[in-house]
Amino acid sequence: MSDPIIRVDNVHKSYLMGKEAVPALRGVTIDVARGEMLCLMGPSGSGKTTLLNLLGGLDEPGRGHIVIDGENLVAMKEEQVARLRLQKLGFIFQTFNLLNNFTAFENVEAPMVLAKKLKRKERKVRATLLLEQVGLADRMDHYPSELSGGQQQRVAIARALANDPPIIIGDEMTGDLDSETGFEVMRLIRQLNQEQRKTVIYVTHDPRMADFADRVITMLDGIIHTETVKT
Ligand SMILES: Nc1ncnc2c1ncn2[C@@H]1O[C@H](COP(=O)(O)OP(=O)(O)O)[C@@H](O)[C@H]1O
Ligand SMILES: [Mg+2]
Repeated sequence: MSDPIIRVDNVHKSYLMGKEAVPALRGVTIDVARGEMLCLMGPSGSGKTTLLNLLGGLDEPGRGHIVIDGENLVAMKEEQVARLRLQKLGFIFQTFNLLNNFTAFENVEAPMVLAKKLKRKERKVRATLLLEQVGLADRMDHYPSELSGGQQQRVAIARALANDPPIIIGDEMTGDLDSETGFEVMRLIRQLNQEQRKTVIYVTHDPRMADFADRVITMLDGIIHTETVKT
């Protein structure tokens, strides 16, 4: 693959449980092409979330390398990793993880405040545009508790896009939604992938949600079990 935006090279990761090292990843190698939509499947405990956390620099591999858009995470200092995460990655979670005391607008604005690149007026224009894009123009001043699950997840998608990252990472992002709402969320993600060329890596247990991907990798016991490329 030429010019992959993500390289995962022979990555191992174990967790310490007392004095025992429990392996979660046992040699995973994946290249993700720029603009690709990649789905990770596999049973609970197979290492999917561990892999996504390593991609976000939230944890370090015991062995191997991770390169995001040309930058070697393993060699970087903590604050550089934090900056990379803010600029290059947008995370979407199963339980939305919005700030409950912030409105939809403030949730979307928050990553821009952290990135310190835009002035207040520019942030307002951008957060408004992003919320319009996900169909929530009339919900900007609502708090998460005043929104449905699907609406909260669309706020989370707008938030993930705040700093215009090239990569979107989703961990079971439709897991708490009913099927029709889950489909709507996946259609929106696919649209961002196709129209804005966002690279997407997402985990799902639902084969119907996996159908949106260009490639599906199934993990089992910390290794890649099968790999299917859509034709
Ligand atoms: N923080 C942790 N401490 C100890 N063990 C963990 C931790 N996180 C995950 N594990 C273990 O690592 C393995 C992989 O877990 P995980 O990456 O969460 O899998 P998945 O997301 O595929 O369900 C499992 O055996 C799990 O119990
Ligand atoms: Mg998981």
